[in-house]
Amino acid sequence: MEERRLGPVVGLGTWHTFDRNARLAREVVGAALDAGCRLVDSSPMYGGAEASLAALLANRRDRAVVATKIWAPTVEAGREQFRRQLAWFGRVEIEQIHNLQAWAAHVDWLEHERDRGRIARLGVTHYSPAAFADVGHALQTRRFDTVQLPLNPHERECERELLPLAARLGIAVIVMRPLGEGVLLRRSPPREVLADLSVETWAQALLKWALSDERVDVVIPATRNPEHARENAVAGSPPWFDDEQRRLVERWAGT
Ligand SMILES: NC(=O)c1ccc[n+]([C@@H]2O[C@H](COP(=O)([O-])OP(=O)(O)OC[C@H]3O[C@@H](n4cnc5c(N)ncnc54)[C@H](OP(=O)(O)O)[C@@H]3O)[C@@H](O)[C@H]2O)c1
Repeated sequence: MEERRLGPVVGLGTWHTFDRNARLAREVVGAALDAGCRLVDSSPMYGGAEASLAALLANRRDRAVVATKIWAPTVEAGREQFRRQLAWFGRVEIEQIHNLQAWAAHVDWLEHERDRGRIARLGVTHYSPAAFADVGHALQTRRFDTVQLPLNPHERECERELLPLAARLGIAVIVMRPLGEGVLLRRSPPREVLADLSVETWAQALLKWALSDERVDVVIPATRNPEHARENAVAGSPPWFDDEQRRLVERWAGT
């Protein structure tokens, strides 16, 4: 396994954002990479997002860490997804079993691919707290290097069992939905509060809130807006929030 820590860094999600407008997607990826974002998260579940991403990374593949997923009910279907990913990306830095689908069947052949060097890290993901006990069982096997979970001031269920478990086992944590799918951005605190947090925007405050938990490595906000991509990438730099600043964010998020 490579060194456990991936972060703290801001990555870029691609769900719902990479299919419809190729020019805009190019600008978003360009803005994110230029602003220091290094990790891009995708999946076969996100329509044509992987293919679009591969085209956008063509002349700067070495600048990106590709995190994508296997989302397949059988080993055969999973291997076919992986063949396509190798053709697009050459190598997959973080291969995650999406929503734990058929994970016990996939993990053997994925470990073999990791041993061959075509995958750097193996992970699992789930979006629902109803599946967190199963995520915990998968992590306990110690066969995974990363786990992707939802975390924001309104969704904190992973703090109870999975973040402590990941920290204990040395598993890197990737945070999906760090902005609550945009819902948390409907109301921003006033400028003075943002100044107290040493950030310029409320989105940056929410991203820093998650990254300031030492058990968290990566946040992967998604955006269709290059300006937002730039603004989000900046949140991947210190200083990190102390406990008081995190509580301030939680109060303004209405929790
Ligand atoms: N949601 C899930 O269940 C799920 C499951 C598995 C994996 N993931 C992964 O996690 C990634 C992120 O989660 P998500 O896309 O569900 O939600 P999210 O990143 O929490 O929120 C995305 C929303 O925030 C807005 N936004 C982003 N940056 C902003 C900024 N600086 N200022 C204002 N608005 C901003 C975007 O709108 P604009 O386009 O206007 O910026 C978009 O509507 C996904 O793309 C995917 O890679 C998600």
